[in-house]
Amino acid sequence: MKKQTRYGHIGVLTSGGDTPGLNAAIRGIGKSAAHQGLQVIGFKDGFRGMMENRAVRLDNGMLSGILTLGGTILGTSRDKPHKMPMGGSIMDMTDVVVENYYKNHLDVLVCLGGGGTLKNAYRLSQKGLNVITLPKTIDNDIVGTDTTFGFDTALGIAVDAIDRLHSTASSHHRIIFVEIMGHRVGWLALGAGLAGGADAILLPEIPYTIDKLADSILERVNRGKRFSIVAVAEGAINKTGAQKIAAVEKKMENAEGEERRKLKEERKRLDSEYRGSTIQLVEELQKITRLETRLTILGHLQRGGTPSAADRLLATRLGTKAVEFINNGQFGMMVAVRGNETEAVPLGDVAGKINYVPPDHPLIISARNVGTSFGD
Ligand code: F6P
Repeated sequence: MKKQTRYGHIGVLTSGGDTPGLNAAIRGIGKSAAHQGLQVIGFKDGFRGMMENRAVRLDNGMLSGILTLGGTILGTSRDKPHKMPMGGSIMDMTDVVVENYYKNHLDVLVCLGGGGTLKNAYRLSQKGLNVITLPKTIDNDIVGTDTTFGFDTALGIAVDAIDRLHSTASSHHRIIFVEIMGHRVGWLALGAGLAGGADAILLPEIPYTIDKLADSILERVNRGKRFSIVAVAEGAINKTGAQKIAAVEKKMENAEGEERRKLKEERKRLDSEYRGSTIQLVEELQKITRLETRLTILGHLQRGGTPSAADRLLATRLGTKAVEFINNGQFGMMVAVRGNETEAVPLGDVAGKINYVPPDHPLIISARNVGTSFGD
């Protein structure tokens, strides 16, 4: 007999960048909930769809055949309830989102998303809604969880790309840079660079100088190696940029109000000046080394296609676990991964925090030990 719990009505949404494994997670929630006699609706296009009350019933028909599909059957957006673009202006639509939660008689809202989604979910939980989040992002930048679903698939795609670039770099005796997503953290570039045998890896967490990078490549040339692969995280930054940003962040520690707002603007400006400048970096390196150089930017390729087996397993595990949380009345929590287990982590402990690669991480030490340069 189906067990009816106190929390019979579940709402689900996917928010932020799409990630392989989202559909596996939706299916995990939906099928497990149906098994227990709970009803699930999905909001289309993240918080925007919830604000516009665009919902669909996640019944068996919707949930079947989606385990292996990339993207999200619900659609997604980067809209935030408290800063929603509305016909040319930005408005706080939180109250409408809250209203639609009650209009749909929801007992809980499950938000599948990354760092931005966590913050939005936390705000809604502070408004009194029962909220649970699942950690999804290819960037692996969420604190409080060992990993996030989507990361493994994106890593596999980036490693495959580096493998393919190796043979062409070697044939043409070229330096090939490959820019890898990851936002402000270097997990993807580090993992793909090390697994793909990149000769240099540039990460946001280890600011580089172009001279050190050039030295490492020329040193390879001296050893008779006529090609090199450089894996660059999209958020990689040189030492000058990193120092300028650190100085602004220092001032921010004691700043409030208007002064803090201005400092935040300045940090944003420095970020866009110094990060994501791989094209310029490639041109400069070519000038210094006089070696023929090319750049491949993987971009959204890393988010596309079917999820890896590991991501399907993880997303299914987290989705079904969310329903256990619901049955236990555990709300205001992220379903976090801890080894083979999962645990409930309070949203307030993780919202707004970023999981950076520690510069002494074992993978960095291993990479250095096999002779990989970090340009530092
Ligand atoms: O957070 C996932 C991610 O793919 C980042 O790696 C990247 O910086 C960003 O999203 C790209 O965002 P968008 O899809 O909005 O261009």
